Amino acid sequence: MELVRVTEAAALAAATLSGHGTHPGADEVTVKNAADALAVDAMRLVLNTISMDGIVVIGEGAKDDAPMLYNGELIGDGREPKVDIAVDPIDGTTLTAKGLPGAVSVIALSERGSMFNPGELVYMDKLIVGPQGRGCVDIDRSPTENLHRLATHMGKNVGEIGVMVLNRPRHEALIREIREAGARLTLIQDGDVGGAISTSWPGSGIDILFGIGGTPEGVIAAAALKGLGGEIQGRLHVRNDEERRTALDMGLDITQVLTTNDLVRSESCFFAMTAITDGDFLRGIRFHGFGATSNSLVIRSKTGTVRIIETIHRNTAQDSFVR
Ligand code: FBP
Repeated sequence: MELVRVTEAAALAAATLSGHGTHPGADEVTVKNAADALAVDAMRLVLNTISMDGIVVIGEGAKDDAPMLYNGELIGDGREPKVDIAVDPIDGTTLTAKGLPGAVSVIALSERGSMFNPGELVYMDKLIVGPQGRGCVDIDRSPTENLHRLATHMGKNVGEIGVMVLNRPRHEALIREIREAGARLTLIQDGDVGGAISTSWPGSGIDILFGIGGTPEGVIAAAALKGLGGEIQGRLHVRNDEERRTALDMGLDITQVLTTNDLVRSESCFFAMTAITDGDFLRGIRFHGFGATSNSLVIRSKTGTVRIIETIHRNTAQDSFVR
């Protein structure tokens, strides 16, 4: 439950700049970088108050490029438990800058040594389904085949299957195929951690997510899906020879199908998410006369418990999150 304080702090910090990307004189890149820096600062401040011996497996990048929450950084007060940490202080930096729906702050924790480390390999091809589709899809089959298998498994027509895909030029053929198959397609601009959760969220209308997105987001989504009962299959996507070499040097097989358990091996993991802007299942940060209100969810894989937490923060200053 302490983890939610971490994403709450990051989301509150990021939300102070939400929508500022459209202000005259403030270009979108400046705002998204500034919001990210605020979220990283806030997240790290609170993370360090938690009693644990944590190592950042998925963070803001290599130590040279990221002064804080870099991959390999030790976090916490050094006491048990020993854990792996994956963070995304803002999933949806552009959404935050533009004040568009779907930006969130997320964190996942699992037992030490249990999280897949993708190093600098940024992209992964993903196939994600909720509990109702678990075991019936296969990333080695075509999207059309998977849609038919899922529809049969769920006792639906393909036309009733809700699909989510990141709206990117690289997905042009995928989008065409899904439309030709007759499924109901929802395109998202950003934020495929939230998209992954949609597949497993009762009543979301999304049954399956296809396409290439961030590898870090894939690992974080796996931690959430473990608790939600969904499934992810992924395959590292290399864009050039340099990335191919990086994979080889790290001993990573780019042909391997990475299952939910490959991405997070532990059966004991935790996931927390706080909405920065409004989303499909959580309201974004609201600033008001008393301070601010945040909406979060916390998922515990061992018990499959999903807690939705609404918090009123009377004091939104960063140091108020530190005991
Ligand atoms: P950022 O918040 O870091 O911009 O990531 C947003 C995101 O949409 C992720 O949710 C997704 O996995 C990834 O970017 C996709 O990458 P790209 O924008 O390069 O297609």
